[in-house]
Amino acid sequence: MNKTVLVSGGTGFIGSHTAVELINAGYKVIIIDNLSNSEKNIVDGIERITGTKVIFEQIDTCDIKALRGVFDRYDFDSVIHFAAFKAVGESVSEPLKYYRNNLISFMNILELMKEYTRHNIVFSSSATVYGDADVLPVTEQTPRKPATSPYGNTKQMCEDILRDCCAAYPVTHGIALRYFNPIGAHPTAILGELPRGVPNNLVPFITQTAAGIRKELSIFGNDYDTPDGTCLRDYIDIVDLARAHVAALNRMTDGKMTEKYEIYNIGTGKPLSVKELVERFEAVNNVPVPHKYAPRREGDVPSVYADPTLANKVLGWKAERDIDDTLRAAWKWQQSLS
Ligand code: UFG
Repeated sequence: MNKTVLVSGGTGFIGSHTAVELINAGYKVIIIDNLSNSEKNIVDGIERITGTKVIFEQIDTCDIKALRGVFDRYDFDSVIHFAAFKAVGESVSEPLKYYRNNLISFMNILELMKEYTRHNIVFSSSATVYGDADVLPVTEQTPRKPATSPYGNTKQMCEDILRDCCAAYPVTHGIALRYFNPIGAHPTAILGELPRGVPNNLVPFITQTAAGIRKELSIFGNDYDTPDGTCLRDYIDIVDLARAHVAALNRMTDGKMTEKYEIYNIGTGKPLSVKELVERFEAVNNVPVPHKYAPRREGDVPSVYADPTLANKVLGWKAERDIDDTLRAAWKWQQSLS
């Protein structure tokens, strides 16, 4: 069995943690990344944690000529595709940048997989495809809602492209993992989230506020129809999320897929409010996070959380890390940066 895997976007937040878990599980990892939102030294971090040398090439997956070189040089049968832009707000102001990058990179990968007879692909999808779901928790059968941002639309479109390629090409087998809200850092504090500029996401904003880099956290909206008025989300530890990729890949490489294209929710199934998360962070880390309530942020859904039963049963994966440990890891990582 070929246990070599190409990881596109492998120096990003989710990609780097996944590379570590893949290596720990006995896979050989080839990372490609254009470093548009990450740093080369993240490869060193992966190597330090695993004690294993990693192949890295600085390549843009939109550059099909360069990508073809990777397919020529390396013998892998599986790909995990993370490489994508992910800032929701930016995607609204620069839609073409998002459509061009996120769609072309994915289509290039699929095209070369077909040409070079490489079988398995895991795609990074998102809970964003559910939008403001009518029934919670969401299962994989919950209807997708029209995307509210070009970013979200690229996730839906890539899912559809993958579904169609799996149907059309005998060689192609795909799994889409719909992530809920990935947070935390590697427990060693060697890897974590490295947002450039002002963070959009909640936990990096919390840790930077606790560290004094930001004056105050704005909690966007306290008048939602939720128990405490703030939004509910399903926060998934980054190491748990990384392990879900290993479980998906194991299923593919062991030839256990029953459909050519499968979808799994990757979440805890336990919703937390923004207010609860902030207070929990303060309590477990014994550090204040100055915060105020601010108007709702455009595009936010009041509540979304997973029913992860399918992934639990079929992938044999479940979220294991305690939220308090996750929030400790996030703070330890932030402190390691100063
Ligand atoms: N929030 C704040 N203050 C902040 C940042 C976030 O109150 O400074 C709140 C948001 O309003 C939301 C919650 O914290 O209620 C979580 O926000 P994040 O930005 O961390 O995460 P989202 O749920 O908005 O984003 C996630 C994924 C995206 C995906 C998006 C779509 O991170 O990739 O869901 O729903 F596109």
